[in-house]
Order: sequence, then structure tokens, then C-alpha cells
Amino acid sequence: MRAIVVQKFGATPELADVPVPVAGPGEVQVALDAAGVNPFDLKMADGILKGKMPTDFPMILGVDGAGTVSAVGTGVTKFTVGDKVVGKFLTAPAGHGSWAQYATVPEDATLVPIPDGVTTVTAAALPVAGITAQDLVDAARIQPGQTVLIVGATGGVGSFLVQLANIAGAHVIATARGDATDQVARLGAAETVDYTRTRPTDPNVDDHDPATRQDSSVTAAVRFTHPDGIDVLFDLVSAAGDFASHATLVRQGGHAYSTTWAADEAALRARDITGGNFESKGRSPELSRLLSRVAAGDVVVPVQMTVPLEAAPAVLGQGSARGKTVLAI
Ligand SMILES: NC(=O)c1ccc[n+]([C@@H]2O[C@H](COP(=O)([O-])OP(=O)(O)OC[C@H]3O[C@@H](n4cnc5c(N)ncnc54)[C@H](OP(=O)(O)O)[C@@H]3O)[C@@H](O)[C@H]2O)c1
Repeated sequence: MRAIVVQKFGATPELADVPVPVAGPGEVQVALDAAGVNPFDLKMADGILKGKMPTDFPMILGVDGAGTVSAVGTGVTKFTVGDKVVGKFLTAPAGHGSWAQYATVPEDATLVPIPDGVTTVTAAALPVAGITAQDLVDAARIQPGQTVLIVGATGGVGSFLVQLANIAGAHVIATARGDATDQVARLGAAETVDYTRTRPTDPNVDDHDPATRQDSSVTAAVRFTHPDGIDVLFDLVSAAGDFASHATLVRQGGHAYSTTWAADEAALRARDITGGNFESKGRSPELSRLLSRVAAGDVVVPVQMTVPLEAAPAVLGQGSARGKTVLAI
């Protein structure tokens, strides 16, 4: 079968012909129609799981995938051949991902039926980014009327987060370059901040060094419009310096989360702010909840582009995401 693989950590992803995986006991084999692309895929290829999870090579990339159950192993009770399913195709050993014509997963992995009316392309865009957004909103226990700043709002996680925070009743401030302002407004942002606009420079501060810069342009803009601060910060992109700057906006007793391990948790605690470095743990229940909202039309899945499987190496790690990229298999 066709698959996108790396031969070793750090190697260039390539199209390869590999054996079709067989469903073992308790496993489901899925004939994949579509697979989602996430920043984590490139991190995996580069070796983020090295020493953390055993990995088989050639490593088939891809976590998000949707398709049709094509075979079930002995003892499988939750799925039957012909079911339309979507899920995360990452279980130990890693290297048997969704960027392939077929993949197998244990039936107890994050794998759920796709509701009627939701396409496999739409479903494949959901698992990693959608579940992360759902987990963040659940963790912050957003109350109606709270002010929420989302940094990195135009990408995969951010596009879902803007919607879910808005549904929870928040006043959402979203970062977006000028060309993406309308997109985040349509998804539910009440205000947008163009993070590429420079702020007045302080001659005593190296404004080009995010590690030493004291106030990011986003912090300055939000402090201007919300001098009393904000309740929740979701920062999906910043390194430590900018995260610390954005976190100064959060009121005492508020919440601040980083999905990029940029938070100094002791510094947050010292200001009575909860949250910190966030790892999404959501599984099938969260994915099913999201799919129901998509089927009901309450959550939109912003698919920026759909490209053939063969194009995966070209789109991997491309910046400036506007929602999700999906591979058609
Ligand atoms: N910890 C976890 O459990 C977890 C789970 C999921 C994802 N993540 C991580 O979270 C991060 C975001 O994931 P994603 O899927 O949303 O990525 P993505 O789809 O690539 O989106 C990132 C977005 O941020 C924008 N951006 C880049 N630099 C920015 C800046 N300085 N300020 C504001 N916006 C900026 C990008 O567009 P422009 O460049 O055009 O502005 C893009 O729209 C990734 O590092 C991912 O690995 C972590």
C-alpha cells in the first residue's frame, strides 16, 4: 500500500510502498479515506517520541484519520466491517500512522463512529486539534461573559477554540494577521489583534528578541483595550518570553495555558493563576461530543485545503495555517 514514511528520525518524509497491516486480536483495520495534518506530525518525524515511545521503522506518519472499517481482529465488539470511523492512529509502538491506505488500532484507542452527514474529510480534520481545543475549554471552565485571549487563533487548534470559547459565552479576543481577520470573526471572535503590527519601541529593549522583550505587541494592544485585564489566556504558539508577556494580562485568579511548553508554572502560581503547560488527554468521549456538535451545525470544521496523500511531504510544516489541511487518500 501507499504510505508516507520516514526511514529514521530526522529523515525526509517520502512516499513508500509498505505492507498492508493486519488487524490483530482486539484491533480494527481501517481503510483510510482522509487524514489530517498537524504540527505534531513533523515533530514526530523529527524524533519527539525518541526515548518516550517505542517506534517501528519505516515510521508511517499521521495521527488523525477517517475511513471505513475493513477488517476486525478476534475479540472486537465495538466495530464491524463497513462502519465509518474517525480517530487517532497513534498507539505504542509508534510508526503505524494514518498517512496510508490502511492502518490498524486497538478498538479501545480513540476511535469513534462518524455521524450521518459528516464527511470523512471533515472528520479527519477533527481529532488532535478539535480535542485539544475541547480539553482547553473544559480545563478553564469558562463562564459566560469572561474575556478570553487566544494567541495563534487562526490555525487548527485555534479555529476550534475560538468557536468553543464563543459557545461557552466568552468574549473572545483572537490574534490574526490582517488577511485572516474576517475568518476568526466569522468563527466567533469579538475582537482581533494583528500580532504582526509593531508596537512603539522602547530604545532600552531589544524588540527583536522574544526572550528579553518585555511586552509583546499583542500584550500592548490588549492592555490598551482591556486595562483591567482578561480572565483566560490560551497561547498556542509563543515561546517563553512572549508567553510571560501575554500572561501579565491575566487577572489574579484567572487561567493561562500554553500548548508549546512555554509557561513558567511557578511564576503563574505566584500570581494565583491556574493552568500552565497543557497536554491534551481527551479521547473518544471528547471526539464524539465534537462530532455531534459538527453534525448539528454548531461547530464548523475549517478545512483550508485538501491535497493528495503524495503531497504530504510538501505541506508538512508549512506555516500560516488557516484552519486544517487534509490529505485525500
Ligand atoms: N500540548 C498539546 O497537547 C498540543 C496539542 C495540539 C497542538 N499542540 C501544539 O500547539 C501548537 C498549535 O497547533 P495548531 O495545530 O493550531 O498549529 P497550526 O495549525 O500550525 O496553527 C498555528 C497558527 O498560529 C499562527 N501564528 C504563528 N505565529 C504566531 C504568533 N507569533 N502569534 C500569533 N499567531 C501566530 C499561524 O499563522 P500565521 O503564521 O499566518 O500567523 C497559524 O495560523 C503547535 O505547536 C502544536 O504542536 C499541542
